[in-house]
Amino acid sequence: MNYEFILVEPAYHTHIALIRLNRPKELNALNLQLMLEIKHALAEFDANDEVRCIIITGNERAFAAGADIKQMESKTAIDMLKIDQFETWDQIRKTKKPIIAAVSGFCLGGGCELAMTCDMIVASDTAKFGQPEIKLAIMPGAGGTQRLTKAVGKALAMEMVLTGKFISADEAHSAGLINRVVPQELYLDEAVKLAKEIALQSPVAIRLAKESVLKSFDSGLQEGLFFERKNFYMCFASDDQKEGMNAFVEKRKPDFKGK
Ligand code: HXC
Repeated sequence: MNYEFILVEPAYHTHIALIRLNRPKELNALNLQLMLEIKHALAEFDANDEVRCIIITGNERAFAAGADIKQMESKTAIDMLKIDQFETWDQIRKTKKPIIAAVSGFCLGGGCELAMTCDMIVASDTAKFGQPEIKLAIMPGAGGTQRLTKAVGKALAMEMVLTGKFISADEAHSAGLINRVVPQELYLDEAVKLAKEIALQSPVAIRLAKESVLKSFDSGLQEGLFFERKNFYMCFASDDQKEGMNAFVEKRKPDFKGK
């Protein structure tokens, strides 16, 4: 697939792939095509054994300033229903490999929802997070009311969703929305550092562990514990588990193959 709105580097670093949102003039507003391209690139990375961790980023001014308002402006409810854009978002959420959002500048509306759909967020100290949809007389539609509330709690989520106010990277960090805040010139490097740590681990165990953490969002405790246990047992079916434990006993670094 030829990408129009994203730049893709499958081998950005060893075992690390990068997707860069690339509509800089529109502050990376997420039009339907761009979202399809992200979905397609993630599926390709999932199928590529060389890739162990994925980074999604924008540019210094914007990660993404939301869904493309100009594309939505004239749509009716039935148009939106027929377009069914959330099918794309659901596929993105099903990506098996870990995804880190490296965020600088505006991270708003669908942009904030995209970052929250990723597994971790590393931000520049210039990042601004918000769900300003209310100012357009709409509301978040790609998980914002759910993921934001789970991440930061009811009080702050209500305030952000009902007033559209932005929060700074430091506030987002204190509230538990993001993993790290670093000076702007370092945000991508910091995301790579985190991705490298993940890429050193067993891809099999990483996949099962990611799946298990995400399960906690969809299930009660008993069901989640049961799911976790199955995945825990499954780890023992891998060569990587033998290698990891053997390396510990032999006091050496493990070399994981994803088998
Ligand atoms: C389309 C957008 C856009 C968007 C910015 N632009 N955000 N185009 N959709 N979401 C365009 C502007 O129209 C402008 O184009 C150019 O990008 C630069 O933006 P400016 O507004 O001139 O920049 P600035 O004054 O610095 O203000 C930045 C901003 C503001 C505060 C981020 O652009 C803004 O409020 N954007 C909208 C944010 C928002 O409401 N997001 C939620 C969208 S709804 P021109 O051609 O004029 O130069 C949503 C629903 C998700 O996300 C539902 C699930 C998918």
